[in-house]
Amino acid sequence: MSLLPPLPAPLGLLAELTHRCPLACPYCSNPLDLERRSGELDTATWLRLFEEAAALGVLQLHLSGGEPAARSDLAALVRGASRAGLYTNLITSGIGLDAARLGALAEAGLEHVQLSVQHVRAAEADRIAGLSGAHAKKRVFAGEVGRAGLPLTINAVIHRANIDVVEEFVREAAALGARRIEVAHSQYYGWALKNRAALLPSAEQVAETRATVERLRVELQGTIVIDYVAPDYFGRFPKPCMNGWGRQSLNVTPSGRVLPCHAAETIPGLGFWSVRERPLREIWQESPAFNAFRGTGWMREPCASCPRREVDFGGCRCQALALTGDPRNADPVCMHSPARALITAALEEARRSHEQFAYRRYVPATTKAANPLTAAAEG
Ligand code: SF4
Ligand code: FES
Repeated sequence: MSLLPPLPAPLGLLAELTHRCPLACPYCSNPLDLERRSGELDTATWLRLFEEAAALGVLQLHLSGGEPAARSDLAALVRGASRAGLYTNLITSGIGLDAARLGALAEAGLEHVQLSVQHVRAAEADRIAGLSGAHAKKRVFAGEVGRAGLPLTINAVIHRANIDVVEEFVREAAALGARRIEVAHSQYYGWALKNRAALLPSAEQVAETRATVERLRVELQGTIVIDYVAPDYFGRFPKPCMNGWGRQSLNVTPSGRVLPCHAAETIPGLGFWSVRERPLREIWQESPAFNAFRGTGWMREPCASCPRREVDFGGCRCQALALTGDPRNADPVCMHSPARALITAALEEARRSHEQFAYRRYVPATTKAANPLTAAAEG
């Protein structure tokens, strides 16, 4: 029996059903080492996990990847999650889901769809996604979501190659029938860190984007809700990553390891427990990884005595590790961090950079494939 005090229940669970993906986005925040199909959890284990999540108090289930449509059992997973009483949100590229499959998902209880888009112009969108024809398929899919009677959120990850079309993103999302758009600046974890110099916009572009979002929020009030995720490199303080480590949410990898955030496995020595071996409640309450950075006891200065320590929780542990080499350091985005110069240097490097994207490919470059999703599913 656990001797730990009871913890608040997590609100959300992100199920990374697979790392297989037809796209090759340079801003992908998934880990550098992707999991293979052969290691993925089977249907029954996911369904047991969803029951355990609901019993633990989780309300929202985000079905993600990679591309969750690469799982042929997606409708069964949605049905099981829905029966467990979870609100189900599908986070998808829209590739590989036709009207029939989407109808089956709606019939199984799917409640919301979040569709990623890369640009408003097809040629640019396909260049960023690394897949010819992707944009056209996404537009068709958005229409199918509306016909299936499902609410749609458009997710636009913003970076230097598309920051000049934020207004068009919002207007197109409204035209496609989306109720909400998330204008989210790229975060620099996983694969995205490799492309940071090619992705980071300028301070002027960021300021202009913020003003555009404010203007459109007023103009389009009642038509579409605009969520804005600011780029932390341009702020004085870091974001409260995950709203605090192990406080509100958990991620499950395709093979069943349970993480406090999607990049947590970059932190060495944490000890991640798997749903194959332990109940979710025990993992949430007792796993070494979840307890490593809960609360404020782990903090060093300047965070330990900072009045904002329970506002931003010292920022992002994974960013602190990636940039300073130690996850217990303050996020270097913070103006109080002794490593803040690393952020200034990255912005300067980006300003001078004309780098090309390094694409994230699930399928080895030597594999020739007519249908990228089918090829990805063979992984
Ligand atoms: Fe946040 Fe730490 Fe900076 Fe304070 S010193 S603002 S807690 S990152
Ligand atoms: Fe891991 Fe921020 S992404 S704590």
